[in-house]
Amino acid sequence: MMELRRRIERAWEEREASAPGSEALGAVRETLAQLTAGTVRAATPSAGGQWEVHEWVKKAILLHFRHSDMKPMESGALHFFDKVEVQSDWTGKGARVVPPATVRHGAHVAPGTVLMPCFVNIGAWVGPGTMVDTWATVGSCAQVGARCHISGGVGIGGVLEPLQAAPVIVEDGCFIGARSEVAEGVLVREGAVLAMGCYVGASTKIYDATRGEEIPRGEIPPRAVVVPGTLPARDGTHATYALIIKKYRDERTDARTALNDILR
Ligand SMILES: CC(C)(COP(=O)(O)OP(=O)(O)OC[C@H]1O[C@@H](n2cnc3c(N)ncnc32)[C@H](O)[C@@H]1OP(=O)(O)O)[C@@H](O)C(=O)NCCC(=O)NCCS
Repeated sequence: MMELRRRIERAWEEREASAPGSEALGAVRETLAQLTAGTVRAATPSAGGQWEVHEWVKKAILLHFRHSDMKPMESGALHFFDKVEVQSDWTGKGARVVPPATVRHGAHVAPGTVLMPCFVNIGAWVGPGTMVDTWATVGSCAQVGARCHISGGVGIGGVLEPLQAAPVIVEDGCFIGARSEVAEGVLVREGAVLAMGCYVGASTKIYDATRGEEIPRGEIPPRAVVVPGTLPARDGTHATYALIIKKYRDERTDARTALNDILR
């Protein structure tokens, strides 16, 4: 891995050269193949519940865009014109992929995943047993853990630039309700539940009603059950959108957000 990283870093330094060498192109190609296989990730869990973002992976993706020409491509009956291939051979991968789900080369879809007609962008990771429902988007480099439900129309924001920006991370066992949007590197901790229509970015206020206090922005605590709401401004002249933690997951929540094994 260090070797591949070193090759990408060198290719990045030399990116202004008029024509990339075969070494640079080979390193980019290998990184994208490993992203697809899941042996390389844009971000990985590290000690103490932290996540480490691998900038070199994003550099590889950006280099791919820089050094690739648009070309006609097809996937089944669908035709495209782009720089990144669409994955089309799902045999033996253990995922269920419903047409016209679109997964770009460089995204990893683990076994046991169900992809309804959704879009999974380059660099993304979708963990085993996760369901990505209809018209949901998993953005570039976003990381979605195991046994999550990403409901219909959800947007899991991606990030390629700036390089140091963290992607959105949804840890294992989360439920993201229909039409919600998670953006700007927000971290959704294990088992959290977002109700339908929750919009959360780095600046969104999060109020924990079980403790009666606002909590730090950008992170949804483990097992929190979050609904859309508002919080009054300090001067009381108006209120703004906020997420409210109404409770922590209980049996009722589990029953309402359970994954259906028969679909997997
Ligand atoms: C979050 C959700 C799972 C409910 O969880 P739950 O644990 O059963 O929640 P409860 O019904 O016990 O409600 C707890 C509190 O949260 C509030 N609440 C629950 N869901 C809410 C919602 N969607 N919007 C606003 N408030 C909500 C309840 O009013 C209740 O408030 P109260 O304590 O002041 O009475 C459910 O509302 C939801 O959003 N489901 C997702 C549906 C969906 O997206 N399906 C996928 C389609 S592809």
